[in-house]
Amino acid sequence: MSDACAKMKRLVDSVRVIPVIVIEDAKDAVPMATALLEGGMRVLEVTLRSAAALPAIEAMARALPDAVVGAGTVLNRADAANAREAGAAFAVSPGYTRELGLACAEFGMPLLPGAVTASEVMTALDDGYDFLKFFPAAASGGIAMLKALGGPFPGVAFCPTGGVSSGNLDDYLSLPNVTCVGGSWLTPAELVRRGDWAAVTALCRSARRG
Ligand code: 3PG
Repeated sequence: MSDACAKMKRLVDSVRVIPVIVIEDAKDAVPMATALLEGGMRVLEVTLRSAAALPAIEAMARALPDAVVGAGTVLNRADAANAREAGAAFAVSPGYTRELGLACAEFGMPLLPGAVTASEVMTALDDGYDFLKFFPAAASGGIAMLKALGGPFPGVAFCPTGGVSSGNLDDYLSLPNVTCVGGSWLTPAELVRRGDWAAVTALCRSARRG
């Protein structure tokens, strides 16, 4: 197994739900992470989809040593390097490339790469990654597809994201090859806009499992 994969597994060992964050304003970073942590969410994925993402990762990691703050939407070696520089504890990618797998191994950076087809799973497995993000989960066949992948790949664990919510979280978590799930439903744009951090904490408490 790749060391970047083994380290990723250790980071999320007892974690069942990972908030996937899109942050538009870096000033929201610390209050948002505080609210998530308060709600029992310890591992946080900040997606590199906005200019505020890297400064947000830096601010969260500095202010909240109890949180494990990683970068999502890491697409290539440069993204992984930037995330590491900002203090990200891990990287998540929607898919997998050998370039990214090798870069994270070289950086000693835990990586959760994405795969949804048998060929993609095989490519990631070839490079030692057997803990994979399953994205976009709902659009890629959801529960039925994860069950089907469990046949040929009994040793692969998945973290589905994309269409996971409070309504189907337990269905995903009940699958033997799903160790955790992720999603943006814990940080709804409207609550973030209003700065309603108490509501974010309440959402996290109700989504907390394990
Ligand atoms: C991700 O990057 O994991 C997804 O964008 C999260 O998908 P969701 O918004 O459907 O939770």
